[in-house]
Amino acid sequence: MKNIDDFIEVAVNTGDEYKVMIGNDLLNKTGEILSALGFKKIAIITDNKVWSIYKEELAKSLKCSNIHYEVLIFLHGENSKSVQNYLKGIDFLAENNYRRSDALLAFGGGVIGDLGGFISATYQRGMQFVQLPTTLLAGVDSSVGGKTAINLKQGKNLLGAFKQPKKVICDLSLYKTMDKKYFLDGVAETIKYSILSSKEMFYELFSPIKQDDLRLEYLVKRCVEYKAKIVALDEQDNDIRRLLNLGHTIGHSIEKLSNYSITHGFAVAIGICYIAKLSYVLNLITKETAKDIVNCIETNDLPISTNFTPEEIFQNSILDKKCEDDTITVILIQDISSCVLKKISLLKWKQYIKSAMEANLD
Ligand SMILES: NC(=O)c1ccc[n+]([C@@H]2O[C@H](COP(=O)([O-])OP(=O)(O)OC[C@H]3O[C@@H](n4cnc5c(N)ncnc54)[C@H](O)[C@@H]3O)[C@@H](O)[C@H]2O)c1
Ligand SMILES: [Zn+2]
Repeated sequence: MKNIDDFIEVAVNTGDEYKVMIGNDLLNKTGEILSALGFKKIAIITDNKVWSIYKEELAKSLKCSNIHYEVLIFLHGENSKSVQNYLKGIDFLAENNYRRSDALLAFGGGVIGDLGGFISATYQRGMQFVQLPTTLLAGVDSSVGGKTAINLKQGKNLLGAFKQPKKVICDLSLYKTMDKKYFLDGVAETIKYSILSSKEMFYELFSPIKQDDLRLEYLVKRCVEYKAKIVALDEQDNDIRRLLNLGHTIGHSIEKLSNYSITHGFAVAIGICYIAKLSYVLNLITKETAKDIVNCIETNDLPISTNFTPEEIFQNSILDKKCEDDTITVILIQDISSCVLKKISLLKWKQYIKSAMEANLD
């Protein structure tokens, strides 16, 4: 692509290989990128906040490349991952005569990626799909790997499909307009990836990540590379991909207990701190490493503890889909860049949560 030289690409080797483009100012190249993929007609799924900030820039780019588009705008926020909106999306595609060979462009954060992805996975048994993530969380995590889902009244992400995109266009310059709290949700996932994959990256994060950080290209690339490696080994989330849930079992409990007033990344940050403490109590890591993890999270303006009780956290965690019979699989830390899956009894899990929450690192 002749005019686009300032980006890097990471390949994701699932059934059909695709590339994640990472760079600055990619939004105004979107028309060119989609054109190079052979698309002439696209359906944009977005939210009202993202669209109000970026509609002119995206529309201009698409027009310049003669790409025809229609837009469906949902209200921003988690509530939009609903069955009603899913059906609205399907209706919109059918009414506008979209074909399987046309692309659905998910232009937004993880909510839009998950909703748009699920619509594209099922419309006419699957149409083409491109992700244009606009949040750090979507860039490092949700836009890669093909998990798509909507929420049911019985719980989050209960209706979904695996749908790998044809391309992910990750424009880092879009993060500058995000609200800080949502940006921090992405920071928590970035810290998670560093603990899973790289000491160098982990210690880099002791200088807090900023929205206009020059290190974003490097950081997002490292997260995407790691996720791509894991997803290629276990696309359907039956085994090693579950490592990506580090801190999430406790995190999900905290999210639910707070009635979702504590956002995902904040809850995961707390979950990671307790898992670090637990890993220390179990003699898997030193006190210093556990302290480093807690400090790294705190330095990045994320919370490190909660007032919910161990019993409350335990009760909510066993409602999670990761429980089978009387066991649960938890992710423990053996060292920075070395985590393990461990299947334990629910009785042990209950004791572990208590000792993690009571552990003292002083
Ligand atoms: N599919 C996966 O593998 C996966 C992984 C992790 C999380 N998720 C899902 O991702 C969702 C959370 O994603 P999220 O944190 O991106 O939330 P989000 O999509 O709700 O975005 C957060 C907020 O930021 C706004 N926003 C987005 N981009 C912006 C920008 N550039 N400038 C200004 N405002 C902007 C949105 O309108 C929204 O209000 C959850 O539904 C979660 O289940 C999916
Ligand atoms: Zn997460």
